[in-house]
Amino acid sequence: MDEKKRMLSGIQPSGDLHLGNYLGAIRNWAERAETFDCYYFMADLHTITVRQTPADLRRRTLEQLAQYIACGLDPEKNTLFVQSHVHQHAELGWVLNCYTMFGELSRMTQFKDKSAKNAENINGGLFTYPALMAADILLYQPDFVPVGEDQKQHVELCRDVANRFNGIYGDVFKVPEPFIPEVGARVMSLGTPENKMSKSDPAGCVFLMDKPEDILRKFKRAVTDCDTERCVRYAPDEKPGVANLMGIYAAVTGMDYAAVEREFEGQGYGAFKPRVGEAVVECLRPIREETTRLLADKGYLESVYRAGAERAGYMAEKTLRKVYKKVGFLAR
Ligand code: TYM
Repeated sequence: MDEKKRMLSGIQPSGDLHLGNYLGAIRNWAERAETFDCYYFMADLHTITVRQTPADLRRRTLEQLAQYIACGLDPEKNTLFVQSHVHQHAELGWVLNCYTMFGELSRMTQFKDKSAKNAENINGGLFTYPALMAADILLYQPDFVPVGEDQKQHVELCRDVANRFNGIYGDVFKVPEPFIPEVGARVMSLGTPENKMSKSDPAGCVFLMDKPEDILRKFKRAVTDCDTERCVRYAPDEKPGVANLMGIYAAVTGMDYAAVEREFEGQGYGAFKPRVGEAVVECLRPIREETTRLLADKGYLESVYRAGAERAGYMAEKTLRKVYKKVGFLAR
């Protein structure tokens, strides 16, 4: 029997999960949970590049695990774990720091954005974070890394680092491909559609745990465009707000853009916006209910992340040993 191909990805528990995380990443993971050997984690080590409130970070990490499961990641079929529980991430992260160039890190758009937003705390971790992300990935030798569009640059850097390392020491790492969905790869803010949806802009952001009435309100207030035709037509350059809502609607209903245009032909934005909101409410309802149910059983969630760390640690240790040997560290 052929071995299954492997997928790996993670999300930072630095804020509550939102529709962008779901459509850009998690949904894509869950749809492939049967056909791939999957590793998904809560990227808590990454979150402290920006100051966190410790109690909130702990709560969100557990909530995120419940949400992964509620979104369809069965812990029996997927390895779900907390990044900091597998110490090999930090260790390989250090090694890869020494194979990642200052110039490469300086070009990362996320570093430029985050350092502009956190001017009082531009720490070393924020700068070298893509080397840790490369370690997160390469430890598990995955074939694919399913992420939204904004993480593509980091996955490309990971490939460059893997190729550089392999070029010196032989084939140590599998060089993975980014895996980006066709719809939902870049969900934009409902308030400022030129920016991506992000937890730092709560008014334009739909969280997976938002109440239905809040979701509907956010969609009714969504910024459309000041064009005169006021019809639902897919034209991202001219009408970014409408295109974003169409993208969300297409992603949650499975329709293509032509079908969305036909559905709303002759109707204005007044009918379109609440309809998108309702479709999102229905898509998120089972996730919200299942998350609430799972969060009531902390013992179960603990058993999931413990088992996940054990499986992940086994795999990570195999790669780390190989790396330590290759670079010349004396065996214990
Ligand atoms: P993070 O936590 O910012 O985002 C998690 C995932 O959600 C996707 N995403 C979006 N997709 C579409 N539209 C949006 N508005 C949107 N916002 C976020 C992201 O592309 C991502 O897939 N560095 C990573 C976490 C990470 C990681 C890894 C990912 C750490 N190690 C190893 C993959 C492999 C991050 O900060 O993602």
